Amino acid sequence: MVHDGRVLANIVASQIKLHAEYGGVVPELATREHLRNFLPVARQAFDAAGITPDKITTVAATIGPGLPQALMMGARAAQGFAFALGRPFYGIHHHEAHLYSPWIVGDPPAADWPAFEPNISLIVSGGHTLLVHVKGELDHEVLGGTIDDAAGECFDKVAKLIGLPYPGGPELDRLAEEGDAKAHSFPRPMMKDKGDDFSFSGLKTSVRYFLRDHPEVIRDDRKIRDLCASVRAAIVEVLVTKALRAAGRLGVKCITASGGVTCNIGLRRSLAERCKRNGLMLRLAEKSLCTDNAAMIGLLAERKIRAGIEPTSIDTDVRPGWQLE
Ligand code: KG4
Ligand code: ZN
Repeated sequence: MVHDGRVLANIVASQIKLHAEYGGVVPELATREHLRNFLPVARQAFDAAGITPDKITTVAATIGPGLPQALMMGARAAQGFAFALGRPFYGIHHHEAHLYSPWIVGDPPAADWPAFEPNISLIVSGGHTLLVHVKGELDHEVLGGTIDDAAGECFDKVAKLIGLPYPGGPELDRLAEEGDAKAHSFPRPMMKDKGDDFSFSGLKTSVRYFLRDHPEVIRDDRKIRDLCASVRAAIVEVLVTKALRAAGRLGVKCITASGGVTCNIGLRRSLAERCKRNGLMLRLAEKSLCTDNAAMIGLLAERKIRAGIEPTSIDTDVRPGWQLE
């Protein structure tokens, strides 16, 4: 729930524990949980914000991209709510909301729009790796994306090879902190490529072959940490190098990052170091706002209203494969 650039309530119902049992996201369970959580979470948000439903002036929800049934559940519930209140509905692109989430700061969080700078934005999550040129207010151009695995997917799949529970990215990151990143030299796929696309499936495959040839690594705590550090270094170097190169090419002075993988300690540190060295400003989404959240959806909707953008039709369909334009 947001008002005038301020976040009044931001309640997140995490499903990580549920899906961990199955080693990945199970779409039917995700949808069922959305259905089950919608009203309790809405009630919690009203309580936290201290307001009643009649005070709501606009309802916004993400309508894509994502799992069709889960999107449908959230969007239809939000549209029903807007219809019942007689209020406009805004269907928001989930990645467009990520683009502006690094500008949400503080406790309670608020949008720092006055500080906004044109930037190169990295969106790195379990499902997506995107490099976007954010030229100005609500004005962006997608430069590149992943042609196979997303960065988070690569972290999770390598973590699974090592035997870490899903999602293994955060644990791999923690182990990497205690390892030697120079222990192994894994490939940096497409890093030297002139384009802005990414590819991480080759890196995952090379770790798989490495473990096939060195099965003893899995039984040695020290070696596992070195492996984690080396894999993390490869993923991070590709992400940071390509983001900075795009900034240099386009003459952009600011880098931003959001999405679950932006919680990665190695990525945050490397972006900070390399931006400092190159005289670039850096805005990283706060850790609690890196993963999907309603605050970024509400604040983007507010921004669109201010810019005079018309609401979305109240019966608009979800768009599971919606590409950021
Ligand atoms: O944005 P997100 O919560 O969900 C979507 O994928 O939309 O991102 C989740 C991803 C998972 O792949 C998870 O392993 C990864 O973000 N992740 C991390 C870290 N924290 C979350 N990956 C590496 N290091 C981390 N510290
Ligand atoms: Zn997301």
